[in-house]
Amino acid sequence: MADKYDVVVIGGGPGGYVAAIKAAQLGMKVACVEAQKLGGVCNNWGCIPTKAMLESAKYARKSGELEKYGVGVGDVKLDLGRAAERAAEVADQGRKGTEYLFKKNEIDHIRGWGRIAGKGKVEVVTGRNAGHGDEEPEEGEEKTLEAKNIIIATGSRPKSLPMLEIDGDRVWSSDHAVYADSAPKSIAIIGAGAIGMEFADVFSSFGSEVTIIEALERVLPMEDEESSKAVARAYKKRKMKLMEGAKLEDAEVLKTKVKLHVDTGKDEPELVDVERVLVAVGRAAITDDLGLEDAGVELENGFIKIDEKMRTTADGIYAIGDCAGPPLLAHKASHEGIAAVEHIAGDEHAGVDYDNIPGVTYCHPEVASCGMTEQEARDAGHDIEVGKFPFSANGRARTAGETDGHVKIIRDTKYGEVLGAHIVGPHASELIGELIVGRHLETTAEEMDRAMHPHPTLSEAIAEAALASLGHALHI
Ligand code: NAI
Repeated sequence: MADKYDVVVIGGGPGGYVAAIKAAQLGMKVACVEAQKLGGVCNNWGCIPTKAMLESAKYARKSGELEKYGVGVGDVKLDLGRAAERAAEVADQGRKGTEYLFKKNEIDHIRGWGRIAGKGKVEVVTGRNAGHGDEEPEEGEEKTLEAKNIIIATGSRPKSLPMLEIDGDRVWSSDHAVYADSAPKSIAIIGAGAIGMEFADVFSSFGSEVTIIEALERVLPMEDEESSKAVARAYKKRKMKLMEGAKLEDAEVLKTKVKLHVDTGKDEPELVDVERVLVAVGRAAITDDLGLEDAGVELENGFIKIDEKMRTTADGIYAIGDCAGPPLLAHKASHEGIAAVEHIAGDEHAGVDYDNIPGVTYCHPEVASCGMTEQEARDAGHDIEVGKFPFSANGRARTAGETDGHVKIIRDTKYGEVLGAHIVGPHASELIGELIVGRHLETTAEEMDRAMHPHPTLSEAIAEAALASLGHALHI
C-alpha cells in the first residue's frame, strides 16, 4: 500500500522545505522527498556556507588594518581551509535545524530521488541525486507515495561552458570553491554575477590573485550602473583584475595551470594563466529524470512553466523556486512555496509580488537593490528624480571605516512612489529590508524621510537619499 499524503514536495531546499512546513501548519499531511541534504543548495553549498566564508574574508581583509583601530596583533595567518571547515559546521547546524522543524511539524522526510509516476504518484528511487558537491547518493528506501498535490522544488545546478568543463580539480563550480581547502595562488573567475563577485571577494581576501572575466560591459550587469561602478572601483583598489566586456573563447587545462584565451575586442585574444578557474556563468534548472513529460508538465526556456498560483500545466502539480524560473533566489523560492501551499489550501489571494524582490550580493562592499534601476525607470517612461547619498557622509559608516558606496533612491515625481532603491556599502543586505517593507506598503519618498531614523546609524543614509530625491538632503 502506498503512503498517502495531501502534499508531497520533491526537493528540500528553501523552496521545498518552507512549502512543507507551511502545508503542515495548515493541517495537511506532508512528505518531502530529498536526495541529498535538507536545506538544499542554499543551506549546504550556497547562501549559508558562502556567507560564512565571506565573514572569514572580512576578518582576513581587516587583519591588515587592525592597528588603526588600536588593536595590535602578531603575525596574521590566513587559512582558507579552516574557514571552509567552519562554513561546513555552520551549514550542518542549519541542516539539523531543518530536520528538527520537520519533526516538530510531523513532516515525513523521505530520502531518495522523487519522480512523478502517474497521476498523484511520486516514485522514490535510490542510487541517484542531483550531484551537488560530488556527493555519493544517500541510502534510502524505494517506494511510491500517493499525493493529492505535488510540489516540484528541485532547484538548479551550475552551468558549464562548452570549452571549459568543470572537473572539480583545476576547474571549479561554486560547489567546489565553497569548500576549497586552500586559497590558490591565482584564480580566474568567469562571470561577474552574484556568485563570481562573492567568491572573488573570498579568494582575494585570502591572498589569491583574482582575475574576473565578464562578457557584458560591467560587473554585476543586472544591477544599477552606479552600483556596478562602485564595486568595480573597490575591487580595483583591492588589486583584483577586472576584464569587463571580455568573453572566454577557449581554454587549455594543463597539469598545473589553466590557460585562458579571452576575447577583449582586440585583434588577438588575451592569454590569462591561472592555477584554478571558477566557472560562475549561471545555473540551470533541474528538470531531468522527474517524469515531467509523461505527467504533462511543460517547460519554457529550460524552466518549468508556472502561472501566478505556481500551477504547472498538469493538474495538481505545482513548481516553485529555481526550477520554475528566475530570479534564482532562495527568498523567492520560499515565497513561491508559501503561495503554492496557500493556493492548495484555497486562498484566492495566494501569490508573489515579483516587482518587489530584493537582490543582494554579499561581496565587499555589499550590493542590494529592489525595484527598477535608473535606466529601467527611464526606459519605462517614468518621470523620475534620483536621490543619492554617499556613505562617506554618514557618521556611522565613518566610525566603522566603511565609507565606500551609497544609497540611491529613484522617485517617481508624480506620486512620490519609490520605483527603485540601490545600496552599495556596509550592511546593504540588511538596509534593503526597510525599502522592501516601504515599497510593500506603497510608501513615498517623503514618508521615508519623515519616519525618524536613529542616530548614528547607516539607515540614516536611506532617509537622506529620500531627501536627496526631493532636492534637499541635509548632510551633502
Ligand atoms: P549570473 O547569471 O548572475 O551571472 C553570470 C555572469 O556570467 C553573467 O553576468 C554573464 O554575462 C557572464 N558570462 C556568461 N558566459 C560568459 C563567458 N563565456 N565569459 C564571460 N562571462 C560570461 O549567474 P551566477 O553568478 O552564476 O549565479 C547563478 C544564480 O544564483 C543567479 O541567478 C544568482 O542570482 C543566484 N545567486 C544569488 C546569490 C545571492 O543572492 N547573493 C548568490 C549566489 C547565486
